[in-house]
Order: sequence, then structure tokens, then C-alpha cells
Amino acid sequence: MAEVGEWYYSNKVKEHFLNPHNFLIEEPKEGEFDAEGEAGNMACGDIMKVWLKIDSKTKKIKDFKWRTWGCASAIASTSVFSDMVTEKGGMKLEDALKITPQEIIKRLHGLPPRKIHCSVLVDQAFRNAVSNYLKVVDKK
Ligand code: FES
Repeated sequence: MAEVGEWYYSNKVKEHFLNPHNFLIEEPKEGEFDAEGEAGNMACGDIMKVWLKIDSKTKKIKDFKWRTWGCASAIASTSVFSDMVTEKGGMKLEDALKITPQEIIKRLHGLPPRKIHCSVLVDQAFRNAVSNYLKVVDKK
């Protein structure tokens, strides 16, 4: 991993910021996804929304889309997280819940120390989406 200076952004961060994966330009239609979750960052006022498609039998994540009113680090972190949970046929929910912000930062080849909190936004929004999904599934 590259040494990360105070405000140094790795090429990987720049790549995902300039070309975010699985980003939604507009809000999806009602019922288009199986679950949605939102999180806000009290420190900066930024907001993250995520939407999931989940295979009801295997509990694998078949699609992960997101929108944010957040910074470059939040955009890059969420882009990389969306790849991690959907690559190789999709991760099981229980495995995806084990992903830590440190793993996201590692895939980004680092984040400036003051931007670490930005990588937590997707983690929280994802956890809220899974919690909302499980509430609906439990009622069925
Ligand atoms: S400064 Fe708010 S998410 Fe990065």
C-alpha cells in the first residue's frame, strides 16, 4: 500500500471518483430493488443511499446501486464496496456484513487520514439496507 500523506489521493481513489461503479443518477422506481438503506454523516452532513437486489434463496447480493451527496472519498469508497459485494456472482449478505472500512481503504490503496470517516458512510447505509430487508423477509 502506498504511503498516504495528509491529503494524498491514490490513483485508485481518483479512478473510482472519476468513474464510479454502480452509481445511480436518478432515484430508482418503487419496488425496483429488494432493499434500500440510508446513512448520514454527522461530522460533515453528507448522505448516502444504497439499493440492493438479493437472491431470496442464496441470499447473495445480485445488484448494489447507490447515490450520495458526499465527497470524493465517499464516492470512491462506495464504488469499490459495490464491486466487492457484487463481483464473482455476488457475496452472501452475512459475508458482506463482515467487510470492514479498513478493507475498503485497502482496496483504494489508502485514504487521507482525515477522510477515513467517509468510508464508513457506505458501511452504515448497507447495514441499514440489510436490516430493512430482514424486517420485510421476517414478516413473510
Ligand atoms: S466529507 Fe462527508 S463523506 Fe467525506
